Amino acid sequence: MKVPDIIIAIDGFSSTGKSSLAKKVAAKFGFLYLDSGALYRGVTLFAQEESLINRVNMVNPALKEALKGLDLHFGPDGKLCMGPRCIEQQIRSMEVSGQVSPIAAVPYVREWVDEKLHEFGRKGRIVMDGRDIGTAVFPDAQLKIFMTASEQVRAQRRYDELVAKGESPLLEEVVQNLRERDYIDSHRETAPLRRAEDAFELDNSDMTFEEELAWVQGLIQGKFGIL
Ligand code: DC
Repeated sequence: MKVPDIIIAIDGFSSTGKSSLAKKVAAKFGFLYLDSGALYRGVTLFAQEESLINRVNMVNPALKEALKGLDLHFGPDGKLCMGPRCIEQQIRSMEVSGQVSPIAAVPYVREWVDEKLHEFGRKGRIVMDGRDIGTAVFPDAQLKIFMTASEQVRAQRRYDELVAKGESPLLEEVVQNLRERDYIDSHRETAPLRRAEDAFELDNSDMTFEEELAWVQGLIQGKFGIL
């Protein structure tokens, strides 16, 4: 199935499986996959390492200037690098997850990330996942998907992911982190998380991954008249 040179935007709540689906769709149709959340996580790790965010999530305004010297890019394997360092593992820790939403709510951080995303997305044929891709970053994306799932299903997924990585989180802590992030992401002033009017909603609480993929494939075939 030959898909035209489009941008596919996949937005939604934390731990709805956006990145797994986006990666698979990209591989299936020969698109580039871009994880916009990784950049917000990379900025968060940077702010933590440079002591530009404190324990109560106060961001030091010096972060704005410091971002000018920050090199975040995706390596050939799709993993996030900070300069010569691969930081993929660090950016997925609970420590980074706990502070990423306040960082992502800072308008100049969003501008910095958006500029990078536009650069990466210039050539089309990309699947990008995040919170505001279909509403703010690429409002003209030709296909928009908005993902949701029940809180219980999302928390269990996130918990299993962390355990598989060798962390020992408390389920209650994971639920709390999800709630906080959802709240901050949906209530911030700049580009809050919401479904774009022209996005197709996918609630995957009771779906297998294969069913999700078939759903996306059907959507693409229907929308672009491809057999
Ligand atoms: O998808 P994720 O959990 O890796 O995203 C991490 C955080 O980054 C999330 O809490 C909100 C923020 N984010 C955002 O504000 N806009 C995006 N396009 C992607 C992520």
